[in-house]
Amino acid sequence: MTPPDYEYLRKLLKERSGLDLSADKQYLVESRLIPLAHKSGHSGISELVSRIKGGGEALITEVVEAMTTNETFFFRDKIPFDHLRETVLPALLQSRAGRRSIRIWSAASSTGQEPYSIAMVLKEHAQQLAGWRVEIVATDLSLEVLEKSKSGIYSQFEVQRGLPIQLLVKYFTQTGELWQINPDVRGMVQHRQLNLLQNFAHLGKFDVIFCRNVLIYFDQETKVNTFERLKEVLETDGMLLLGAAESVVGITDAFRPCPDRRGLYQPNPSRVRSNSGAMAQGLKVVATR
Ligand SMILES: C[S@@+](CC[C@H](N)C(=O)[O-])C[C@H]1O[C@@H](n2cnc3c(N)ncnc32)[C@H](O)[C@@H]1O
Repeated sequence: MTPPDYEYLRKLLKERSGLDLSADKQYLVESRLIPLAHKSGHSGISELVSRIKGGGEALITEVVEAMTTNETFFFRDKIPFDHLRETVLPALLQSRAGRRSIRIWSAASSTGQEPYSIAMVLKEHAQQLAGWRVEIVATDLSLEVLEKSKSGIYSQFEVQRGLPIQLLVKYFTQTGELWQINPDVRGMVQHRQLNLLQNFAHLGKFDVIFCRNVLIYFDQETKVNTFERLKEVLETDGMLLLGAAESVVGITDAFRPCPDRRGLYQPNPSRVRSNSGAMAQGLKVVATR
């Protein structure tokens, strides 16, 4: 791959998915795109790039999907699901007792292990949630991972990663070598394709947002922008869960960490001024402190 090809792909990926590649990541692009170039009948990356420049929109989608990291597993990092069970859900059972409804968004849901882990936690509280309307919305940029998520079918290896055996037995059905999540749990999750770089206000307001292990791929400005828009769709007493390597600290004051609850954040009520207007227009914003 020539340096201009790399620069072209870096820019394209940043615009399309927010992926922020440093100058030394050629090997990563090559390892993901050479197989795609060959599969799509091109001699290599240079030919692939020429084809894209000539207006290959479908090919761009394939390139963007090939460059996403879809790593995920059931109850990943455990702690966020402990927070959901021990802190978030008890708080919502009280605060939403009047309207008896809860909306949860898994904002980069990959192949579904995250939204289905959330659904199983809620299922385990079925008695307390009897008569409640519970919605889990799973979104991802990649149609390929969404299709797998919708199917709810996982390999033996996938169900062995993070999923307690009693939940496997209770909520999955084995067919040959594969396991499918049961229709009652699957039915709790709605799937939609969504690019976090684009407007998501139409999804409505959520009580809880899981936005985990996706912001790490964005640059600072894109993170700030995304946090601002996440705040707009989160109820003022709602809760945000980030990945183990992610934080709002030093990035935005739109959210504040919940004391003693690593990875759990709430909208910041004491924020002096909202930058959301400027963010919506894509302007560079300096976080207020
Ligand atoms: C590493 S996975 C994280 C999955 C899950 N949240 C977890 O923590 O296990 C990251 C996911 O983010 C998705 N993604 C990447 N860029 C995105 C974007 N701009 N908008 C929406 N999803 C994106 C990828 O397709 C991928 O499925």
